[in-house]
Amino acid sequence: MIASAGFMFLWLIIFFLCHSCTIATITPRFPVSIARSKLLSSSTGNAIYETKYFTQTLDHFNFNPQSYQTFQQRYLINDKYWGGAEKNSPVFVYTGNEGDIEWFAQNTGFMIDVAPYFKSLLVFIEHRFYGKSIPYGGDKDVAYGNASTLGYLSSTQALADYATLIIDLKKNLTAEDSPVLVLGGSYGGMLAAWFRLKYPHIAMGALASSAPILNFEGICSPYSFNDIITQDFRSVSENCYRVIKGSWKQMEDTARKSGGLELLRKSFKICKNYISVDYLEGWLSTAFLYTAMTDYPTPSNFLNPLPAYPVKQMCKAVDDPLVGNDTFAKLYGAANIYYNYTGDATCFDLIDNSDPHGLAEWNWQACTEMIMPTDGNSEKSIFPPSQWNYSDRASYCYSIFGIEPRPNWITTEFGGHDISKVLKRFGSNIIFFNGLRDPWSGGGVLQNISKSIVAIVAKEGAHHVDLRFSTKEDPEWLRDVRKREIQIISKWLKQYYRDLARPSGS
Ligand SMILES: *[C@@H]1O[C@H](CO)[C@@H](O)[C@H](O)[C@H]1NC(C)=O
Ligand SMILES: *[C@@H]1O[C@H](CO)[C@@H](O)[C@H](O)[C@H]1NC(C)=O
Ligand SMILES: *[C@@H]1O[C@H](CO)[C@@H](O)[C@H](O)[C@H]1NC(C)=O
Ligand SMILES: *[C@@H]1O[C@H](CO)[C@@H](O)[C@H](O)[C@H]1NC(C)=O
Ligand SMILES: *[C@@H]1O[C@H](CO)[C@@H](O)[C@H](O)[C@H]1NC(C)=O
Ligand SMILES: *[C@@H]1O[C@H](CO)[C@@H](O)[C@H](O)[C@H]1NC(C)=O
Repeated sequence: MIASAGFMFLWLIIFFLCHSCTIATITPRFPVSIARSKLLSSSTGNAIYETKYFTQTLDHFNFNPQSYQTFQQRYLINDKYWGGAEKNSPVFVYTGNEGDIEWFAQNTGFMIDVAPYFKSLLVFIEHRFYGKSIPYGGDKDVAYGNASTLGYLSSTQALADYATLIIDLKKNLTAEDSPVLVLGGSYGGMLAAWFRLKYPHIAMGALASSAPILNFEGICSPYSFNDIITQDFRSVSENCYRVIKGSWKQMEDTARKSGGLELLRKSFKICKNYISVDYLEGWLSTAFLYTAMTDYPTPSNFLNPLPAYPVKQMCKAVDDPLVGNDTFAKLYGAANIYYNYTGDATCFDLIDNSDPHGLAEWNWQACTEMIMPTDGNSEKSIFPPSQWNYSDRASYCYSIFGIEPRPNWITTEFGGHDISKVLKRFGSNIIFFNGLRDPWSGGGVLQNISKSIVAIVAKEGAHHVDLRFSTKEDPEWLRDVRKREIQIISKWLKQYYRDLARPSGS
């Protein structure tokens, strides 16, 4: 089994395909240019966000001397649209996920788009151990060095960081009565939902976008993830699906023949430095997975630069009659959409380990708490049939970090089983958004739980598409999703201010 440290919500460990592989790590390529990045550069003086640092406690849960260690946690802030503390105007906080917070801010235009309407203060808090929020004096070699130091990288510590920072920030602004809304996408969306459940005295509501909080411990099927990818391609073109599905065996057969690897290398324009069929399969699978995740209705540049509806574009390449009968040429055409949309690639490097958004430490989380079974492939899957195998994950994690995962911890700490019944009687004010083209939607909350724990589901939607900057080209369904989210949040705020105006106890 090949362990490809693929990008997940950002990074998840995907145990892929082939049948006789050794453990290896594949990192997809991430071209660096990001539209709007100039808007964030604080040196220009007219940046959207100002960058600040907060002295954060390393260990919120242990009083031994170690717990007095601190680190510098980065957060971004914008008060341009804020109505101010006197008016108790709201604070919108993005609960950062597993990567550079500036990158998430660039891909969460929703916050800035709605700020003038809500007169909200905008804050993006970086998750510990990512970006510039590195404990141990910012020394990554030490922080990532071993399981003892990485032990401070957990979702519970991160949530406590957010609680601590938000309280302190509000105190500094004398905005104690301002309502806080937490928002996040993907793992950040999980954190937003969990924050609302664990810290209801700090956040009055949560918008949790594409948050697969049910992707744990057998609550959702381990096949759902790849079934959705399969369906995405199939819904566009049955032929495209069949060509891709048939290609894996063809690649493996070719690789076994003499000169076969060289043929594959040339077919896919792989650089001369390295090729193996496992890496090639991992690289192609990564392209299909991320394209499905980011099948946005407008051109985007989240993981890679892509055209609108990239799954359709990939299948157009596969189905192109001019390419003729050559499966590898068809697949090359598809991969070229994901890896070379800008046209800049001279050859494809299968062992490119660049990590421009600083996501690599997700591997630690995926080996400790975030045991999310997504790797099952049914007979109909676009990938070769395979079963989710916990022992595989466990032995991979042992080999990398020398630790045993805690596969039941997330459901112990945050719940998940029978979520409708549990949350119907406990909790309020959470929006769960899911786009059904997003493979993570299989682990999402897709049904309304109560009047104020609401599921918004978009059949055509992909991974946290609702949180992206709005554009003139946005389809009607996407405008509608955002409109409904804004309406619900407005309702929560109205209720909050009504309660605030009442004398306490009444
Ligand atoms: C882990 O790293 C820290 C910091 O470098 C070091 O002090 C500690 O001894 C290491 N622990 C183990 C078990 O190697
Ligand atoms: C609040 O103010 C104190 C004193 O200036 C500062 O040290 C701290 O970082 C501030 N808190 C936040 C969240 O910025
Ligand atoms: C494509 O290949 C199939 C079988 O591999 C063959 O029957 C068919 O004639 C070929 N078509 C063309 C256009 O070469
Ligand atoms: C990338 O696209 C350009 C322009 O279409 C093309 O010339 C180049 O060969 C492609 N690179 C690779 C590695 O396929
Ligand atoms: C799971 O993987 C382990 C090796 O890591 C293997 O021994 C076991 O047979 C596998 N189980 C299934 C159901 O494939
Ligand atoms: C949940 O309820 C809201 C109205 O409050 C509705 O707009 C939405 O479609 C419902 N979601 C589902 C999945 O039925």
